[in-house]
Amino acid sequence: MEHVPVLLEATMEILQPAPGRTVIDATFGRGGHSRALLARGARVIALDVDPEAEVEAKKLATEVGTDRFCFHRANFGQLAQVMEKEGPVDGLLLDLGISSPQVDQAERGFSFQQDGPLDMRMDPTTGTTAADLVNNLSEPELRGLLREGGEDRDPGKISRGIMRARPLLTTGELATAVARVTRQPRPGAKHPATRTFLALRRAVNREGGTLDEVLAAVPKVLRPGGRLVVLTYHSAEDRAVKVWIREHSEEEKREMGMAFGHPNLERWVKRLDEVVPTEEEIAMNPRARSARLRAAEREKERST
Ligand SMILES: C[S@@+](CC[C@H](N)C(=O)[O-])C[C@H]1O[C@@H](n2cnc3c(N)ncnc32)[C@H](O)[C@@H]1O
Repeated sequence: MEHVPVLLEATMEILQPAPGRTVIDATFGRGGHSRALLARGARVIALDVDPEAEVEAKKLATEVGTDRFCFHRANFGQLAQVMEKEGPVDGLLLDLGISSPQVDQAERGFSFQQDGPLDMRMDPTTGTTAADLVNNLSEPELRGLLREGGEDRDPGKISRGIMRARPLLTTGELATAVARVTRQPRPGAKHPATRTFLALRRAVNREGGTLDEVLAAVPKVLRPGGRLVVLTYHSAEDRAVKVWIREHSEEEKREMGMAFGHPNLERWVKRLDEVVPTEEEIAMNPRARSARLRAAEREKERST
């Protein structure tokens, strides 16, 4: 399935792409958001860890020219280093998670809908696979991973079920092992292995850690007045973004009674609107269902 960019109009409204403005698309995917930013005249600096995203990005660079679009195959956890040679920019977009083509390719191992190797790496050239984790972690380690990453209601039952079924080499084998120890889902409910797959994907790709790292880079890469847009697809990730914005927002510091002129002033952001997809967007693109957009603007510098 082609990847349909989520909350595209809201993202454009907040990032205000235009000639003379530069925006980082730190999760290029198949370039849906990047193309829209470019079509509105902005210059785009894109990142993605996935080699297949790089193939798509190279095509785009040929189409629009490298002065308007450049791509780095890099983890956004390294955003500050990638951006060292560039000056601060006007916008940063993070559209978290995985793209439709990644989910749809059985051999990438993200999906229990089709059987494939238990992989789940966004960058399949390096690192630990989901099979490495499920087959080598101890039961308490596995339970902890499931509890933290996927919000499974009964991680102990699932981790014990996985231990009994080991070795697990395919997504189908894992889905079956999880389904065997969980209650039959109601018709129309999510597959019982949904949360287990999410937890493993988050652990394999160190998603929580890289999100913290990229948020920590925001003050280095955004110019004063520059805007951050983050699209999340599940509650743990949304909570991390919500807390970060709250902890760095001017309103919050004021409420906490901190005076202007505080040494951390340059790190402060202003909270902007939250947006969720309309029923219409969800009907057109069911993968938008769980999306939530949070945004913030880096405070403009004040004269003291
Ligand atoms: C939801 S998709 C983005 C889709 C894109 N906005 C579009 O319209 O085509 C997320 C992308 O981010 C990439 N990604 C996820 N975590 C990453 C990270 N830590 N560093 C770089 N890329 C990452 C994934 O490989 C995937 O291609």
